[in-house]
Amino acid sequence: MKIIMLGPPGAGKGTQAKRIAGFYGIPHISTGDIFRANLKGGTPLGMEAKKYMDQGLLVPDDVTVAMLLKRLEEPDCAKGFVLDGFPRTIPQAESLKEALAASGKHIDFAINVDVPDEVIIDRMGGRRACVSCGSTYHIAYSPPKTEGRCDVCGEALIQRDDDKPETVGKRLDVYHEQTHPLIEYYEKDDVLDNVDGTRPMDEVFDHIIELLS
Ligand code: AP5
Repeated sequence: MKIIMLGPPGAGKGTQAKRIAGFYGIPHISTGDIFRANLKGGTPLGMEAKKYMDQGLLVPDDVTVAMLLKRLEEPDCAKGFVLDGFPRTIPQAESLKEALAASGKHIDFAINVDVPDEVIIDRMGGRRACVSCGSTYHIAYSPPKTEGRCDVCGEALIQRDDDKPETVGKRLDVYHEQTHPLIEYYEKDDVLDNVDGTRPMDEVFDHIIELLS
């Protein structure tokens, strides 16, 4: 099963993508996580991505597409994947479509997690992330068992630099301009489903599984 998660920053794409991946035994591929891992490792890709991420801007399409398509060639993607944060522009969607078509494949589902901007701003302020294993928490809605520590690997949790209020506004502007048009794009391909992302996490997940089944 090949699934795309759409939605604004902070909609809960990552939260749901991890659960879907676990449910179906397929990889969860987050371009944001790959960039952050490269940044942590001090690679040239990480340094390049940081210039854009810190400003709430998108990393250029050529860099992102090359990185993602390389990841999709790995053997664990053979039976499907959940893409989280990719595609984010029409050219990225076109590149993905072409690459899949070259091997007779296509996207099966594009799940749009719908959340209004005012809820997003509240969620970003409370999000805490583990840079080591990628787990995500919220200080009110999904707190870790021990404050400030990751439940999975025990590392210290951080607030992402791009979750600071001044950058969140820019990310939302970029989303509305460049990523929102993908909803219509996948609607035309007849693979789009919408879910109400303001509902509690378990309800959102149950709705998604119902749509995928
Ligand atoms: P990325 O890491 O992809 O960030 P994003 O899309 O902005 O998404 P987020 O990770 O911020 O949010 P999410 O929707 O996954 O929400 P989450 O589940 O964490 O990208 C970061 C940057 O990398 C980009 O700005 C860009 O620079 C670059 N980049 C990445 N991909 C790119 C691409 N394809 N092209 C170009 N550049 C790219 O949830 C948010 C919070 O809410 C959490 O605290 C969570 O616990 C909580 N929460 C989740 N669901 C619920 C719920 N139902 N109720 C209450 N709280 C909830």
